[in-house]
Amino acid sequence: MKNIILTGDRPTGRLHLGHYVGSLKRRVELQNSGKFDEINILIADDQALTDNADNPGKIRDNIVNVVLDYLSVGIDPAKTTICVQSALPALHALTFYYLNLVTTARLSRNPTIKAEIQMRGFTDEGLPAGFFTYPVSQTADITAFDANVVPVGEDQLPMLEQAREIVEKFNKIYGETLVLPTAMIPENEVQRRLPGVDGKAKMSKSLGNCIYLSDTAATVKKQVNGKMYTDPLHLQISDPGHTEGNVVFTYLDAFCTDAHFAEYLPDYANLDEMKEHYRRGGLGDGVCKKFLINVLEETLSPVRNERAKWENDIGSVYDIISEGTAKAVEKTNETLARVRRAMKINYFEDRSIIKEWEQLLKKAGQ
Ligand code: TRP
Repeated sequence: MKNIILTGDRPTGRLHLGHYVGSLKRRVELQNSGKFDEINILIADDQALTDNADNPGKIRDNIVNVVLDYLSVGIDPAKTTICVQSALPALHALTFYYLNLVTTARLSRNPTIKAEIQMRGFTDEGLPAGFFTYPVSQTADITAFDANVVPVGEDQLPMLEQAREIVEKFNKIYGETLVLPTAMIPENEVQRRLPGVDGKAKMSKSLGNCIYLSDTAATVKKQVNGKMYTDPLHLQISDPGHTEGNVVFTYLDAFCTDAHFAEYLPDYANLDEMKEHYRRGGLGDGVCKKFLINVLEETLSPVRNERAKWENDIGSVYDIISEGTAKAVEKTNETLARVRRAMKINYFEDRSIIKEWEQLLKKAGQ
């Protein structure tokens, strides 16, 4: 069996550091690991429309932002296929067939959908059917690419569970046709859930607590110095401080290496020593924030430079997604043909059905 990855993002905004530690960084590692036969990233614009039907312009604008974010962190279109969901008609057809394999009761129980409905304040009257059923469309995304590995955030586990159920049901009814996918979730807590700079929740645009991959150095500095939550009990430098729940240290956990200490803060050999000092008292937040800004800049400045190059060449960005999508059209159409054959609804693939129908009618007439 081939090793195939499919993952995706809704193009509803620029990507931030939470996306970087939670998924982008690993996508690049997986891409460069040489362990996969195919890697596909889907820009899920149709899925984004399920709760943005009145604002397609927002989705249209953010397709380019998201692709720029991919390219600037090191997604290489020679190794990874980047494609646009709405241009893959096979996904729509597959969704329609899979919808028959789930019940509305089962969809209502999906905990991620439940949480998302609540977050958006949808009442029964206001809940778009497309949004309610997007786990089924996501199953179409995954199976259309024959993906066996699906790197996603923890919140997407219920989607994968539902996808597996649909695959199992399909294969049971129509014969072994679809590949059973497995979720690959981030390894550690920091990767799973990088808090916003305010320390309250995950990064989210509406809370204004994000650091975007495309932010300028000045903005990053402002977010860290002006907004980053530390330890409210650490009033004097000499006071003992807490590193748990202290966003500066959470971010250092996610981003800093021993090499960063050698370069920017040689008083300590590593993060453990620095934390130790903070807990003991005598290490000020200003020093910690300054170090974090240096660490973040080391990650972000190459990303920013790479982005600037692509921003000056949007024609090439267009070609990349256009070529990736053309490739994905072929692949997903092949899967759809296989599915239709399994379901015996491939009427127009060959004319042998004429014989079949003729015999049927002859028998009925006897
Ligand atoms: N629902 C995913 C998210 O919000 C995005 C997505 C769409 C996706 N299609 C997918 C992820 C297929 C993995 C596989 O993050």
